Amino acid sequence: MSVKLNDCYLKPFISSSEYEAIAGEIQSALVTTREKSGAGNDFLGWLDLPENFDKKELFDIEEAAKDIRSMCDVLLVIGIGGSYLGARAAVEFVHGPRYNNLKKDTPDIYFVGNDISPSTVSELLSIVEDRQVCLNVISKSGTTTEPAIAFRIFREYMENKYGEEEAAKRIFVTTDRARGKLKELSDAKGYRTFVVPDDIGGRFSVLTPVGLLPIAVSGADVRAMLQGAADARNAFLFEENIEKNDCLKYAAIRNILLRSGKSIEILAGYEPAFAMTCEWWKQLYGESEGKGGNGLYPASVCFTTDLHSLGQFIQDGTALMFETVLDLKTPKAKTVIPYDPANTDGLNYIAGKSMHEVNRVAMQATALAHVDGGVPNLVIELADRSSYSFGYMVYFFELACAVSGYTIGVNPFDQPGVEAYKKNMFALLGKQGSEFDAIRAAIGEKISK
Ligand code: PA5
Repeated sequence: MSVKLNDCYLKPFISSSEYEAIAGEIQSALVTTREKSGAGNDFLGWLDLPENFDKKELFDIEEAAKDIRSMCDVLLVIGIGGSYLGARAAVEFVHGPRYNNLKKDTPDIYFVGNDISPSTVSELLSIVEDRQVCLNVISKSGTTTEPAIAFRIFREYMENKYGEEEAAKRIFVTTDRARGKLKELSDAKGYRTFVVPDDIGGRFSVLTPVGLLPIAVSGADVRAMLQGAADARNAFLFEENIEKNDCLKYAAIRNILLRSGKSIEILAGYEPAFAMTCEWWKQLYGESEGKGGNGLYPASVCFTTDLHSLGQFIQDGTALMFETVLDLKTPKAKTVIPYDPANTDGLNYIAGKSMHEVNRVAMQATALAHVDGGVPNLVIELADRSSYSFGYMVYFFELACAVSGYTIGVNPFDQPGVEAYKKNMFALLGKQGSEFDAIRAAIGEKISK
């Protein structure tokens, strides 16, 4: 198994009777998910997709990735939220956060359109100036403001640089099958398009063309990734005993700790390569569970770095949180700490140990200290940083999220709260329409009071 839950540090916090008490609820949430009988059940396409992924579509993704690799040395990926985080998480999980600086025969990948910063755009325009560029714009709705602005700017750039015809060969669009401005534009311009499935929401879409095209361009093995997810599906979707199903156990632990008064879950990685996985996980759980005044606030830290900044609060501050620790079993590199005969820095007591060994001792020491400080710790063991393990982990967290959300009592697949700021922003920017006129008037009253 690529993902295993280790609850050895949880014993002081959760008793076996608490597991027994919640087991029935967790089980029925699994059945609701598996049978697609709960709220938001038209967004459960991700549940069986790894098993049923269309062979032709997978072939097309791999062909497009090959073409992109042959045409360019920079791929710009435009998207935000669920149309951004999964792909970046995968690229960094497999290749590391310095992917763009590695010696490699795949294009650099820059993610853009995930903010409205003019600096991001102008820096990227200068980075790509003398380079060969392809572009993958990803937006299910085709109307999200951040990627739409970036796409307008970079489409103009591509057309000026290559001419309209050549630019069209270098622009790849991932969007709705039939609807939206982006689909209309793609049809008019003849861009190669990939489909965001109707029944999969943004935060569950990493293993669809949304994530798989940029991931394939990076050279990660998308077939192995889907196989990992398919194997996780077999391991976790059918076993109803929480003692035999780590995915259910994770959902159970989260709900037990929520009910006992914890309000924050911190996902802690001891590898910078996990930083974007944590960002992806934060969206997955934040958007799925934070509803109706309920849910755990998902936060993240990158240890040991953040032990020197946030460690104090976690150890000793307000008792709001518990930690879920990502424990990498097999590192990518085996750097050993050298012996120094002079020992001027006093480090010879660890000479000959690998950095990975020291990192894992730091993890153990931190868990022991935080548990002493009253912070429940659970460990999720990851076999390695392979494409297969990434896919396996994605399915583990997605299924646990659905089960956990149903147990909390929310619809894990909608995101009504995300719309509120968008409507205000459209109104303030002067978008036409009676809905926005009304919002503008209401805002005017609030501001004048
Ligand atoms: O998960 C979600 O629904 C959101 O985060 C969206 O993915 C995000 O807002 C981007 O939406 P779109 O793909 O329609 O541009």
